[in-house]
Amino acid sequence: MLNFEFCSPTKFVFGRDTQKQVGGLVRQAGGTRALVVYGGGSVVRSGLLAQVLASLDEAGIAHMEMGGVVPNPRDDLVYEGIRLCRENNLDFLLPVGGGSAIDTAKAIADGVPYDGDFWDFYSGKATPERALPHGCVLTIPAAGSEGSNSSVITKADGSLKRGLSSELHRPRFAVMNPELTFTLPRYQLACGITDMMAHIMERYFTNTKDVALTDRLAEALLQSIIEAGPKAIADSTDYESHATLMWAGMLAHNNSVGVGREQDWGSHQIGHELSAKYDCAHGASLAVVFPAWMKTVYRHDVARFVQFATRVWGVETAGKSDEQVALEGIAAMQAFFVSLGMPATLAEVGGREEDIPALAANVVGGKTGHFVELLPPQIEEVLRAAC
Ligand code: NZQ
Ligand code: ZN
Repeated sequence: MLNFEFCSPTKFVFGRDTQKQVGGLVRQAGGTRALVVYGGGSVVRSGLLAQVLASLDEAGIAHMEMGGVVPNPRDDLVYEGIRLCRENNLDFLLPVGGGSAIDTAKAIADGVPYDGDFWDFYSGKATPERALPHGCVLTIPAAGSEGSNSSVITKADGSLKRGLSSELHRPRFAVMNPELTFTLPRYQLACGITDMMAHIMERYFTNTKDVALTDRLAEALLQSIIEAGPKAIADSTDYESHATLMWAGMLAHNNSVGVGREQDWGSHQIGHELSAKYDCAHGASLAVVFPAWMKTVYRHDVARFVQFATRVWGVETAGKSDEQVALEGIAAMQAFFVSLGMPATLAEVGGREEDIPALAANVVGGKTGHFVELLPPQIEEVLRAAC
């Protein structure tokens, strides 16, 4: 295990009706004037936004609202949010929604106290030193932004999708009521399940030795998601499976299972190129890229892929070579994604084979991955394996 520091300072308030506490939580976190950030209207239709605003009123928190955040959130609303906060002296960000609303709020929080362009942070030109505080009300188990130190923003023209990790990005609190996820379209829930599994697997495939504890934690989380996912998709009112997914999505990405080990993240970087270019859902991009990545790199450490196949997917080993077992594990994972309604090929997310060289060349920093480092020719190979 490698040396590490781990601080997950978020107060998680989990369970039925917890959204009614949000006003008090903002006050406890020092907020007095909040910008409520939300997406395309699901929180208006479900009545959640009205409940949140009522709770803010009750706690004496002044507020303004900014809706319209789209999946793969764009920089234009970040600029708009920064302007609203500055002009109205707002001191707290309250996203109500999923990763897109939360990541937009995190970017606004970075940008308000900064004299330059907030994109400096996402393009690696500068590092945020201060940010407005934020807390969130989560409506989809997926990105894990409610507990993570990350935020991912896309340029309005779709040319670049870039992430930024900073400890300033950990929310002060996260309200997590599984019932709020009952209204999710099943496709979005499937995307979320894929994404949280990907967050675990980006950490699982490592070159670091002696990581038995975090391996076992990762495997338990994956197994719980594999069990709860289909139940939640089949029954949109089943509280326990939605609760399992909601907490698993947070654990998958607050780094509980990633400490002390090198992590990969190549599939995410390649997936971001697909989301930026074709505007496909983040989870869908991962359902296409992750199996293709595995098929491309498994020979680097067949034993780790055998462990994954046997412990997570229950692949039998008798009479089979290690390579066969490894490949059966990858196939089982891909079949699981497809059974949830996820795509399996580049074409299914709108991708074209002729775009592959440009997609590979655009990956941030010109290379990606740590389990196996991929340069543009290898990234092309991964994308071809998805055709
Ligand atoms: O916009 P509304 O109308 O709210 O609809 C949303 C949106 O269309 C809908 N939805 C969410 N909750 C709902 C609901 N519909 C009905 N009922 C509900 N309860 O679902 C759609 C997707 O929402 P979004 O916020 O985009 O989903 P997600 O949480 O998957 O976030 C995806 C974004 O997060 C980034 C992704 O790249 C992508 O941009 N990620 C952020 C990370 C982080 N900050 O740590 C890590 C991830 O790896 C990821 O990159
Ligand atoms: Zn992700």
